[in-house]
This record gives sequence, C-alpha cells and structure tokens, in this order.
Amino acid sequence: MSVLAIDAGTTGVTALVVTEDGRIDARGYREFTQYFPEPGWVEHDPEEIWQATLAACRTALEGASAAPSCLGLTNQRETAVVWDAATLAAPRPAIVWQDRRTAGICASLREAGHEPRVAELTGLRLDPYFTGSKFAWMARHDPGVWERVTGGRAVVGTVDSYLVARLTGGARHVTDPSNASRTLLYDLTAGGWSAELCELFGVPTDALPEIVPNYGDVGRTDPAAFLGLSLPISGLAGDQQAALFGQTCFAPGDVKCTYGTGSFLLINTGSEIVRSDAGLLTTVAWQTPSGEITYALEGAIFVTGAAVQWLRDGLGLIETAPESETLARTVPDSGGVVFVPALTGLGAPHWDPDARGAILGVTRGTTRGHLARATLEAIAFEVRDVVEVMTGAAGLKVPTLKADGGASGNDLLMQIQADQLGVPVERPAIQETTALGAAFLAGLGTGLWSSAEELRTTWNLDRRFEPSGRDGAAYARWLKAVERARSWA
Ligand code: G3P
Repeated sequence: MSVLAIDAGTTGVTALVVTEDGRIDARGYREFTQYFPEPGWVEHDPEEIWQATLAACRTALEGASAAPSCLGLTNQRETAVVWDAATLAAPRPAIVWQDRRTAGICASLREAGHEPRVAELTGLRLDPYFTGSKFAWMARHDPGVWERVTGGRAVVGTVDSYLVARLTGGARHVTDPSNASRTLLYDLTAGGWSAELCELFGVPTDALPEIVPNYGDVGRTDPAAFLGLSLPISGLAGDQQAALFGQTCFAPGDVKCTYGTGSFLLINTGSEIVRSDAGLLTTVAWQTPSGEITYALEGAIFVTGAAVQWLRDGLGLIETAPESETLARTVPDSGGVVFVPALTGLGAPHWDPDARGAILGVTRGTTRGHLARATLEAIAFEVRDVVEVMTGAAGLKVPTLKADGGASGNDLLMQIQADQLGVPVERPAIQETTALGAAFLAGLGTGLWSSAEELRTTWNLDRRFEPSGRDGAAYARWLKAVERARSWA
C-alpha cells in the first residue's frame, strides 16, 4: 500500500509515492514560471500549476512499484487564486505570497486602527504576505473579475482549494484550517471564517471554500480530470504545517525549520493558542476529524533558498544551487561581507515590506566565494533572528532544531546554523518532509497508519550537526546591516 503525495510549492510541484514504511518509492517534479510584472510583484498562472501537478504525478506514478491507494496534497500557502466555478479556468494570475503590491492597502488599514483587532482574531498581522489584502487588491484593481466573484460565477481560495477543485473536476470547493488560518479571514478562536474580517477585506463569504479537517474525507479525484484515476483525497495541509507533521513534531515544544524558497520555523504549541507580539505568527498546525486542533507559533522568513537561486539566476555566480556550498568553502569566512537578502521585504521577526536587499562590506579583495559564504551565513542569521525571539520574548525552548527542505542538504549551511544557534541541528534521512507530511496525513485519513505514534517510528536521522562555537561579532554585524536595509523601497 502507498500514498501519492503532491507538494505544490512556490517554484515547482513535487509528487512522491510514499510506502507504508515511510520510504519514497518514486518521485516526479515539474517547475513552473515565476512572473515578476513589476518590482515587488510576483504572480503565477494557476493553469501552469495544474499542468505541473499533472506532469509531476504522471512521472511519479510511472516510476512507482504499485498503484497508490490515496492522495495527500500540500501547497504554498497564502497565494490568492480566483477561478470560474463552472469551467475551473482562472480569469487572472494568482497573486503569490511573496508579492508586496498590497503594502499600501495594509498601511491604510493599519492607519485606520484595524491592526489590533485583526491580530486578535487571526493571530497574524497586517502584512501583504497574507491572502486577505491580495483579494482586496483584486476587488479594487480588477473589477471585471471581482464582479464575477461577487456575482457567484467565480470563487476564491488558496492553491490547495484550486488544486482540489481541479483534481475533483469541480466537485469540491474546500480548504483546511492550516491554510485558512493564513488568509487573514479566519477566526482562530472560533475556528471558522470571520464575517467581520471578510467584510473588512471585501471578500464575499460564500465565494470562500468550506473548511474541512486536515485528514479524512476531503474529496475524490475525477478520472476524467486526473490521469484516469479515482483516488480518495484524504490529506490536505499548508506546506509548513505539513512539514511539521512530516518531521513528526507531534508534541508541544517540537520545532522544525524548512529551508525552501523561504524558511519557516514552526514550534508545536499543542492545544494552546500562544500569541506573540514580538513578530511571530500564531497559526493552526492541524485539525483531526474529531475536531481537535493543534496550534503552532511560526517564524516566516521570506527569502533564504531564493537568495541562492538569485546567485544562480540573477547574478550567474553559480550554475546550480549545491555549487553555493563548494564556492563558499573556498574561503574561511565572508571576509566581512554581509548580505541581507530582503529581496521581497522582510518577514519575521522584522516585518518590513519596504526593506530591500543589501550587500555591505565589499572591498577590492571580495570574491565570489565571499558572496556565496555571506549568502549561507545570511540564511543562518535570519533563522537565528527568529529563534532569538522564540527563546527570548516568547519564552519557549529550542533545545534542538529539526531541519528539512532543499537547502538542508547543504552541510556547510547546517554547520553554520548549529554554530549560530548554539544548539544541535538534526537532519532527517528524508528531507522532503513537506510531501511526506501530506502523505502521512492522507494515510491517517484512510487508516493506512493508525496513529501519529506509529508514524514516529518512520523518522530516521541522517546527520546531527553539533555547535562548535558562536561568532557574536558576525551576528552583531548582521543586525547592523539589517537596520540599513530597512524602509528602503
Ligand atoms: O508561506 C509560504 C510558504 O508556504 C511557501 O513555501 O516551500 O513553497 O517556499 P515554499
């Protein structure tokens, strides 16, 4: 027995076939286009996401030793999508979570005094990152499309809802609490859409998806739409919460960091809603079919792996992402160079949509190696910023950090991270924890696994990075550089 897990991420879609003993039997991957129509804007074509999903699944299924019995889906969160209720075609591009165009809308809501109430209801903050302001922007700037939404011909949601609609041939319009809790439209305490927030952002509640638990009966794939298959969709979660699940962080206090396009540190806070006014987000981790909700506190860092991608695609400094490690190892340190990769503003814990990237400390002696090393150091510093807040203002303990995601394969980065945090960093044997989490949820949903405890036995350590001494001066330099990068745009 196996599970087909789809991870519809920001830059591409991964499909894994996961076996009952938690092994990866087969995989597929397909990238899709990133559109940057204006500075600070990031868009996706929903149709391309769907086509990438089909292609990745086709490859994984062709390589699988047996046909999977159910499907789990996880996704880039917060991205705002609109699609036609009947044809499922998207009338406009999706506005991606990284997009900063709604900074002005957020600022005017803040000036009008809405932030405390929004934070109280959602556990989030007024930042362009979240879905609500993106829909408010569409309502103002794309009236033709928005008329279809208010008239009931089009519906809205995040990437999970859009893909479930496509997978089920339009039969289901659903989301789950982990995704819903990232929209600025979800009441965290009441556990449902908030009429007050929907009114504030101008989103008609009946255009929003129904919220269903993270595992159980989510829907069934329509063979006419999805590769001739009729599979139960039995797991659904936002990618960072799925990674928390895939890392088997089931107990309060368990913490993981996923190093993807951005990096996202989540700490399980159990049944308690822990709030932070120091720059962390309160979010739903998952909800069981019997209604029990586990919450998490999150530090969302927007650009980490994307900074390495920028070295590759923007500067042409390296040809492949792993080359960043080889190049960084050509120098013993960054030679005083500090790179603040605020390429889409700064998220946790600084929250400054107007911050922009900065490279400081460059001299005649600076080499490509120094720049590569400064990039890896920046990722570790950004994660340290979040951990400092978690262990300081939020009063939580982070005795070890479970790392996963693409960049966790970078040994040098993991070592710098352990050094910066002063705690061990553990990397599991399977680093594609996001898709694994979706598989776990789906398998729990159909009874392939009977409990979270059973899943814990599938977690295996690949390598543990022990801290070998903190460099206080380098971190102090970083904090100074962050100040310079702020309020730039
Ligand atoms: O909140 C954004 C996050 O869900 C995106 O994750 O892995 O696609 O960068 P990723």
